[in-house]
Amino acid sequence: MTTEKSNKGENPLDEGRRKFMVGTAAAAVGAGLTTGIIPNAFAGSHKGTQDKEFVGRSAFVTGAARGIGYACAESLAGRGANIVLFDIAGQIKEVPYPLATAKDLADAKKKIESLGVKCIAIKGDVRDGNAQAAAMKRAVSEFGRLDFVVANAGITQIGPMEAFSEAELSLIIDINLKGVIKTVQAATPILKSQKAGRIVMMSSVTGRTGSPNFPIYSATKWGVIGLTKSTAMALGKFNVTCNALCPTLVHTKLLDNDYILSRLAPGRKLTFEQFNQAAKGRHILPVGFFGAEHVGEAAAYLCSEGSAMISGDVFDIGAGANAQFPA
Ligand SMILES: NC(=O)c1ccc[n+]([C@@H]2O[C@H](COP(=O)([O-])OP(=O)(O)OC[C@H]3O[C@@H](n4cnc5c(N)ncnc54)[C@H](O)[C@@H]3O)[C@@H](O)[C@H]2O)c1
Repeated sequence: MTTEKSNKGENPLDEGRRKFMVGTAAAAVGAGLTTGIIPNAFAGSHKGTQDKEFVGRSAFVTGAARGIGYACAESLAGRGANIVLFDIAGQIKEVPYPLATAKDLADAKKKIESLGVKCIAIKGDVRDGNAQAAAMKRAVSEFGRLDFVVANAGITQIGPMEAFSEAELSLIIDINLKGVIKTVQAATPILKSQKAGRIVMMSSVTGRTGSPNFPIYSATKWGVIGLTKSTAMALGKFNVTCNALCPTLVHTKLLDNDYILSRLAPGRKLTFEQFNQAAKGRHILPVGFFGAEHVGEAAAYLCSEGSAMISGDVFDIGAGANAQFPA
C-alpha cells in the first residue's frame, strides 16, 4: 500500500502542496477525475523550424536515448547544436523497470542526425565519472567545443521510506545525485577553460516538495537543486550558468511501467489512463501527463542567449500548478 494518507487539521497551504505531489495520484483516481492525454501543443515545432541560434554549438545530454533527455537533445539539435547522447542503453539489473535499450540509443542518434546536425551516441553510465569526462572530451575534439550540458539521467523508486534496502538507497543516490555531481565534475574543466557554458540539471516537482511515495527519489531531486545552486555560484565567474528544471508529470517510461502502475494504489494495478486521470487533478492547465517536448523546450531556453542572466534558478514545469501556491 503506497497511497498517501491525508493530514487533516494542518496548514491548508501545506495541504495544497501535498495534494500536488505525485503521491496523491491514487486518491485522485478514486475521485473519478477524467481526461485524456493532451496532445502535444509543440508537436513538430522543435524539429528545425526555429531560428538556428545554436549552429556551431554542441551539447552533452545524459539519459538521452529516450524520454526527457532525448527531448532536450532534440530541442537543442532543432536549433542547430551538435549533440552527444550519453545513456546506459542497457539494463541495470537492480532497476525494477526497463531502461533504454541499445536500439533506443541508435534510433535517437538517427533522429537527431535527421535534423541536420552531427550526433555521437555513447553507451555509458553516469556513475562512471571517467566515462562522462571521456565523452565530453570527444565532443570537444569532434565538435570543437562543448557549450551545453544537460544532466538528466535518472531512475525512480516507489514505496514507503522504510521499504528501501541499503543497496536500493545506494543505487538511486549513486545515479540521481552522484551521477549529476560527476557530470558537473567532468564538465567543469572544459567550461572553465572556455569561459562560457550552460548547465541544465533535471530535478523534479518532488525536488520542491516531499513525497511519501517517492521519498528517496525526492531526496535526490532536492539534492540536485542544492547542487544547481552551488554550481551556479562556483562557475558564475567563468561565465557559466546553471539552472534546474522541475517537471511534474511527463509521459515517459519512468512512470508508465508495470513496476510503478502496480504500486500506486493499494491492492490493484492502475492502467496508465487511470494514472493520467489522476495527473489531471494536479494541474491547472487542462492536461494530465504532458509531452517531454515541453521540458526540452525549457532546457533549450536555458541554453539560449535570452536566458544569459539567469543562473542558480529553479524552474517548475508544472502545467499551472504553481498558481495554487503562495508567491
Ligand atoms: N517523467 C516524469 O514525470 C519526470 C518528472 C520530473 C523529473 N523527471 C526526471 O527526468 C529525467 C529523465 O526521466 P524520464 O522521465 O525521461 O525517464 P526515462 O526512464 O524515460 O529516461 C531516463 C533515461 O536515463 C537513462 N539512464 C538511467 N540510468 C542511467 C545511468 N546510470 N547512466 C546513464 N543513463 C541512465 C535511461 O536508460 C533512460 O534513457 C530523470 O532524471 C527523472 O527523474 C521525470
